[in-house]
Amino acid sequence: MEEKYDFGLIGLGVMGRNFILNVADNGFSAYGYDLDAEKVAALKEEGGHEAKVNASTNIKTFVNALKEPRKIMLLVPAGKIVDAVIESLLPHIDKGDILIDGGNSFFTDTDRREAYLHDKAINFFGAGVSGGAKGARLGPSIMPGGSKSAYQHIKPIFEAVSAKYKGEPCVAYLGPKSSGNYVKMVHNGIEYGLMQLTSEVYDLLKKAGNFSNEEIHDTFSKWNQGRLQSFLVEITSKILEQKDELGKGHLVDQILDKAKQKGTGKWTSQNAMDLGIPVPSIDIAVSMREISALKEERIEADKLYDRPDVKLLDKEELAKMAEEALYFSFIVTYAQGLHQLADASKEYNYNLDIAIIAKIWRAGCIIRAGLLADITEAFEANKDLPNLLLSDQFVDKIKSTVDSTRKLVAHAAANGIPLPGLSNSLTYFDAYTTSRLPLNLIQAQRDFFGSHTYERLDKEGIFHTEWE
Ligand code: 6PG
Repeated sequence: MEEKYDFGLIGLGVMGRNFILNVADNGFSAYGYDLDAEKVAALKEEGGHEAKVNASTNIKTFVNALKEPRKIMLLVPAGKIVDAVIESLLPHIDKGDILIDGGNSFFTDTDRREAYLHDKAINFFGAGVSGGAKGARLGPSIMPGGSKSAYQHIKPIFEAVSAKYKGEPCVAYLGPKSSGNYVKMVHNGIEYGLMQLTSEVYDLLKKAGNFSNEEIHDTFSKWNQGRLQSFLVEITSKILEQKDELGKGHLVDQILDKAKQKGTGKWTSQNAMDLGIPVPSIDIAVSMREISALKEERIEADKLYDRPDVKLLDKEELAKMAEEALYFSFIVTYAQGLHQLADASKEYNYNLDIAIIAKIWRAGCIIRAGLLADITEAFEANKDLPNLLLSDQFVDKIKSTVDSTRKLVAHAAANGIPLPGLSNSLTYFDAYTTSRLPLNLIQAQRDFFGSHTYERLDKEGIFHTEWE
């Protein structure tokens, strides 16, 4: 009898093909499935030896080629296709088999699918995979959620293929049901926040410091050697030196300023609202993509309103302050996302360990950053830390960078340069660290017009006043 394969993968697009080749490189045999015969042929060609990598356009052949319990990963676009693929598999798979959705599925879809398949004794995992095409090929960060006992079957493969941070795999069992997809959703929310912040700092260096693209490239590249070391700072530096092959100058200057989105950032914000957890650095990043899409209206509005002449700052001084402000805002953005995860963990009974999440984000994923090693330590020191801003390890980092953030936000406001991510991060920090906010007045107003009652500082109980 022919030797069966360790791992099956459905969806041989770039991500799927790269993931399967990664599995094969790490000592496991893998079998791919796609309806597209060209993709199947391309994988077989690239995979080399048939005993290691094989593929088919026939679902029955695919399922029968796999060792039991079958471990089948889906790397197909989120949405109805996932349901359709599950239905096409059901007549062929057996009890105890394991299906893993590696896409950015909405977490409630994962819960629905998990419950549906649980009734049929099929194990279903939602496993966020981050790192893009290169990550899938060379080592992504993987965020799996599902049955803990079934995880033991996929653990060796996932640990082998994942990115490594100082030898430690960037994958871990995160929790039951949709926890893996939820964690990946918030990862993407943070990703939106960090991308918005880097784009603002790029703009600020240009407008308030007259930096050329080369100088911004140098600046980001220098920052990437220090405490801002991160994938997004690194690629920003690379983007800024890319020449335009279709014209003169740098490519970045020819790219239309309308940012697209597939929804994960918006879901993060929406669900944070449902939970009652503030994530304004993420909210504004979503809003900015929406504002960016209103290009034609922006062009009209630009003609109607004058903007102050920008007062230029000393380049060296500006770069120093910008590094501090970016570091400050990165911390605040991670703090908000992790706060949301801690709260979602209680709400949805995920039982998440935030230190483990920070740990598996240290390499492979889009939001990987040197900072995540410090964040891991902070949550390892205190598992129940409600917010990173309350961590002893972070107080000095914040104290030493907040002043520059204030100066730059103020300078940008006075000079008409939008820095919504930086200013939202600063405002969140100022509000979160203020013991008495003016929301006493809101309570009074609510009671005034709607008899909504209020509580007092000095007495227990619920109070109402006849204000007029
Ligand atoms: C990752 C990314 C990825 C996501 C892209 C695009 O972790 O590898 O988050 O999953 O699809 O970043 O997202 P938007 O199109 O919404 O920007």
